[in-house]
Amino acid sequence: MPQSNLIQEAGLLQAALPEVAVRAHACIDSTNSEAKRVAQAEGISPALIFADTQTNGRGRMGRSFFSPAQVGAYFSILYTPEKGLASVVSVTSAAAVAVMRAIRETCGIQTEIKWVNDLYYEGRKVCGILCESLTLEGKPYVIVGIGINLTTADFPTELREKAGALGTACERGKLIAAVYRALEPYLTAPDRRDWLDDYRMHSAVIGKAVTWVQEGVTEQGIALGIDADGGLEVQTADGKKQTLRTGEITLRLQK
Ligand code: BTN
Repeated sequence: MPQSNLIQEAGLLQAALPEVAVRAHACIDSTNSEAKRVAQAEGISPALIFADTQTNGRGRMGRSFFSPAQVGAYFSILYTPEKGLASVVSVTSAAAVAVMRAIRETCGIQTEIKWVNDLYYEGRKVCGILCESLTLEGKPYVIVGIGINLTTADFPTELREKAGALGTACERGKLIAAVYRALEPYLTAPDRRDWLDDYRMHSAVIGKAVTWVQEGVTEQGIALGIDADGGLEVQTADGKKQTLRTGEITLRLQK
């Protein structure tokens, strides 16, 4: 991407979010890693770090996140929760709803949420979210890292089978600003639960057959619902119910 375009995009984003320290990078290892460095070096909050491309984009469960230039929105929001890290336990789920709403508002596309916080469109993943936290000299920071695919034209074939995209008509700068505005209420008032209805309504998993792994044990069952903290309520064939708080599920094809 020409440097002038990036500067222009950063300028528009800064104008849309005047209270946020916006940092733009043509290329960086990972915007989440850079957010940690910004916290360590400058201690500023809120900040928004975005990059045209990432060389070491990181996903959940230690996976990598493919982040080629000009075809995605890769950014991290750095924030200091006033009531400490324990207060923001549900930010992972709230972030999925915030991004879903911003995509709907900016691109006119309705995505679905696959627990915990992947967004799907037309059966393919279009967005992944990696939430991390750190404490520096007693000051807590939360980092919400978001990767959205706008096109997958440059993706290797094996990735294209799973990864979807929103389309190039979706304007990256506007989308990033809309995500920040949609997420902000859940960072400043983490007790809010007005993301829950949307989370449930647009869940891709409620009522579906799912597989999950807890403490190394693989189990199968049905996803029953989402509890008030975003936990996934599941039931195995023998009637045993439990609520999943962390980890990942796989959707199973129902016969
Ligand atoms: C996942 O799907 O497992 C989560 C992917 C999160 C990717 C985003 S891209 C911006 C930010 N920087 C990173 O290194 N990761 C997140």
